[in-house]
Amino acid sequence: MALPTVNPTTTDAWSKLQAHFEDLKNTHMKDLFAQDAERANKNSITWDDFYLDFSKNRITDETLKLLLELAEEVKLKEAITSQFSGEKINQTEGRAVLHTALRAPKDAQFFVDGENVMPEVYDVQEKIEGFTNKVVSGELKGFTGKSFTHIVNIGIGGSDLGPAMVVDALQYYKNQLTTYFVSNVDGDHVNEVIKKLDPETTLFVVVSKTFTTQETLSNANTLKSWFLQSATEADIAKHFVAVSTNLEKVKDFGIDANNIFPMWDWVGGRFSLWSAVGLSISLAVGYENYSNLLLGAHKMDEHFKTSSFDNNIPVILALISVWYNNFFGAETEAIIPYSQYLNQFATYLQQGIMESNGKSVDRNGNAIDYQTGTIIWGEPGTNSQHAFFQLIHQGTKLIPADFIGFVESLHGNTDHHDKLTSNFLAQTEALLNGKTEAEVVAEGTQESIIPFKIFQGNKPTNTIFINKLTPESLGKLIAMYEHKIFVQGIVWNIFSYDQFGVELGKQLANKILQEFNTSEVKPHDSSTQNLLKHYKRFK
Ligand code: F6P
Repeated sequence: MALPTVNPTTTDAWSKLQAHFEDLKNTHMKDLFAQDAERANKNSITWDDFYLDFSKNRITDETLKLLLELAEEVKLKEAITSQFSGEKINQTEGRAVLHTALRAPKDAQFFVDGENVMPEVYDVQEKIEGFTNKVVSGELKGFTGKSFTHIVNIGIGGSDLGPAMVVDALQYYKNQLTTYFVSNVDGDHVNEVIKKLDPETTLFVVVSKTFTTQETLSNANTLKSWFLQSATEADIAKHFVAVSTNLEKVKDFGIDANNIFPMWDWVGGRFSLWSAVGLSISLAVGYENYSNLLLGAHKMDEHFKTSSFDNNIPVILALISVWYNNFFGAETEAIIPYSQYLNQFATYLQQGIMESNGKSVDRNGNAIDYQTGTIIWGEPGTNSQHAFFQLIHQGTKLIPADFIGFVESLHGNTDHHDKLTSNFLAQTEALLNGKTEAEVVAEGTQESIIPFKIFQGNKPTNTIFINKLTPESLGKLIAMYEHKIFVQGIVWNIFSYDQFGVELGKQLANKILQEFNTSEVKPHDSSTQNLLKHYKRFK
């Protein structure tokens, strides 16, 4: 069954939400809290080690009721069933979307074209486990008989961002191996990494679903040439492994068939860290931690699949985000983790969210006349408080923000953690309440300065409070956002799993690259023409 194709703006719920927005748009959340002592209790979900507080949003019971009606009208339930049952819901590429199968238990069943994919999924997981154990224990040796000390993940986009973010987020759980990520085609990136490597003890993991990506192949070739300055072609088998769907191209590159970790076309690049794309994660933190990451994601899948929508964390987050995006006209959303470990989390989510839902044609093939994908950005608190929070507090833009924090600190330093958490709680309180003129006056502020010290408040936030940053809770958190992406794609009636928008630039870059080495300059607009000539003249 194809995904539903309901234009959300034609639903009854949408019209009602529009009218409701007119009633609510000037209401201050402070008043909503004052009117209802139960507001925080009612607008929160406790699930496993997660506590989601969404009460600091510009919503009422009526808003939620209407948003849930919208979810029904766009047939979200049916869409969830279609996704989990392996239907080809990535219709524009003719593929199923089954990253959920990658973290499901062995006895689960996920069918693609009538075939249960789980045996294959577990074959690859066992291969990852065996390989990880041999590398981490030092049993597997390089070409001079030494154990590996360094891992280099070579990939870009979904073949880089997920593993890089997770390895960074789970560095507390890391083993003795040092892991680097090379992604940018900018040669300075790979050369800076090379400076830190010893060819005798470095293992290269080339990750590319298609094995045709310019950046990845360039970096892999550069690293292979560098490696061959010390080793022979035969040694490549000991030092290079690949993760790909394109087995032929991997072999052409010179990687031994035994060193290929396969993946499948039903795994989208930006949802692929659960597949062998996560090999570098497994190597960095060990297989047990890696499988706990998968377990966490699976638990979130079950929560998403089985909870009623009013108690469903990804559904609630997605609908509230639609409320701001489509009714308040908010263009961006900030992700603010209060954990330095999640330093790369917003960057990672940028691909997941913006590559998925940055679309302007609906599932009927028609141009869309309403807003879709949100712009995602963010940095960890408390650093971001000293950077861009001024604009969130007192700027003219409405920026809904997700605050992500942990009750327990990993290093157990309560002094630091209490300070961190006090900031975590204080910021959402400040964004909610603001500061009135009377409060500013009461502080004895000089009269001419008073307007500048007033905070309007009424700035929406979600608080996602998790007991502790563990591989399992991180898996849940990532999967939570994946499902939020899916729900929003369904509401907006777009295809979330293709990414044709990244192709045009790639094609043009290939054409321009050829022009660098000939005297011929093909027709371009005058701006591009001048820039191209400038480069050729001075390079
Ligand atoms: O940038 C587009 C994209 O296709 C992403 O979706 C993907 O994650 C990335 O390129 C890398 O692709 P591959 O894994 O095939 O090298």
